[in-house]
Amino acid sequence: MTGAPAPRPATAASGDWSALLALREHFPILQRSTYLVSHSLGAMPRGVHDKLREFAVQWETRGIRAWAEGWWSSPVDTGNLVGRILDAPPGTVVMHQNVSVIMGLVASALEFKAPRKRVVYSELQFPTVMYAWEAQRRRGAEIVQVRSRDGVGVETQDFLDAIDERTLIVPLSHVLFQSSYQQDLLAITRRAHEVGALVLADCYQSTGCVPFSVRKLDLDMACGGSVKWLCGGPGAGYLYCKPELRERLEPALTGWMAHEHPFAFERGAQKYAHDATRLLHGSPAVPALYAARAGYELILQAGVENIRRKSVAQTQRFLQRAAERGLTSRSPQDPARRGGSITLQVPDGPAFVAALAERDILVDCRPDVGLRISPHFYNTDEELDLCLDSVCELLRTGGWKAHARKGTAY
Ligand SMILES: Cc1ncc(COP(=O)(O)O)c(C=O)c1O
Repeated sequence: MTGAPAPRPATAASGDWSALLALREHFPILQRSTYLVSHSLGAMPRGVHDKLREFAVQWETRGIRAWAEGWWSSPVDTGNLVGRILDAPPGTVVMHQNVSVIMGLVASALEFKAPRKRVVYSELQFPTVMYAWEAQRRRGAEIVQVRSRDGVGVETQDFLDAIDERTLIVPLSHVLFQSSYQQDLLAITRRAHEVGALVLADCYQSTGCVPFSVRKLDLDMACGGSVKWLCGGPGAGYLYCKPELRERLEPALTGWMAHEHPFAFERGAQKYAHDATRLLHGSPAVPALYAARAGYELILQAGVENIRRKSVAQTQRFLQRAAERGLTSRSPQDPARRGGSITLQVPDGPAFVAALAERDILVDCRPDVGLRISPHFYNTDEELDLCLDSVCELLRTGGWKAHARKGTAY
């Protein structure tokens, strides 16, 4: 650890980002750490304390009445808030614990029957998505893995070629978690719809940092979690589903919250609700859903278009300065093909992560790409410069070697 915490200066050499940088005050950790790891865990907004207090006070003072005063409707209310970031109409987004549960829930609503039983996904997808769909083989699913030519991204044409009349669903990442490669969601969705297939976009690595509209992209379903760019913490996964599709889905992973009349406690088979609750199951994780709202509110205040403009300027500047110093990145050079992260190749990722953490510079690493570094709306150019200077110094002095083989758990 470094010595006494010092506030970081909030200047902006790559543009005038004063309105965004003014939001730094909402994130206490920025006073102590150089926080460049929002692709993994976004900084906690101070407002989370108030949201969790609101939950606790409701429980403490209102008791059972809390269910009718916000708890029961929290998966839909919170969904409506994050839905504004996705440009989803009210009543089309519900909250679940995470992406894995959402993938399982959607899969449980599908029937894998010839001639349409194929699931087309890319081999660079976040593994949890693969695990969920591979498990559907035992239910008759045929899996088609689209290969990457370079380990960075998947050529759009290769994706398009893999989708045909046998395709039931295309679960794909908007932005890939390792390289930050941005898939062409529009082209892939068009192709899927031409042949009658569904698209489920995992937007975990784009929501809150790359602007997009589920409506304009005509996505059938979109999902993600709130841990990263949304600064919403764990336990708040969101699922958007087009209403006309939702009416046709009958998930086997279901429960009383998805019933048409949950408080009638009817016996026997499910009678699915005809609104957003149709895609719920049991009692929601209310504290997580309350906590997540603090992050969504700040993202909405910042504006994802503004966040993106700053992100592109800062990531381009970083890549250029890294290249001038002889460093290489496996992230796409074209910002239009990139999400909000940049990667840097180093001799030993975990050792560099640990050496930087010792200086209170927080980044992470992933196999094949090296360090992952992410400026969010609250990061300054100076913080990025400090990170790059530190990497260069560790390379020059070999200081990272003291951390070799210790590894990190994030
Ligand atoms: C693109 C993407 N999808 C999914 C996940 C995680 O899934 P889950 O919400 O099930 O933990 C991550 C990272 O944690 C991710 O980067």
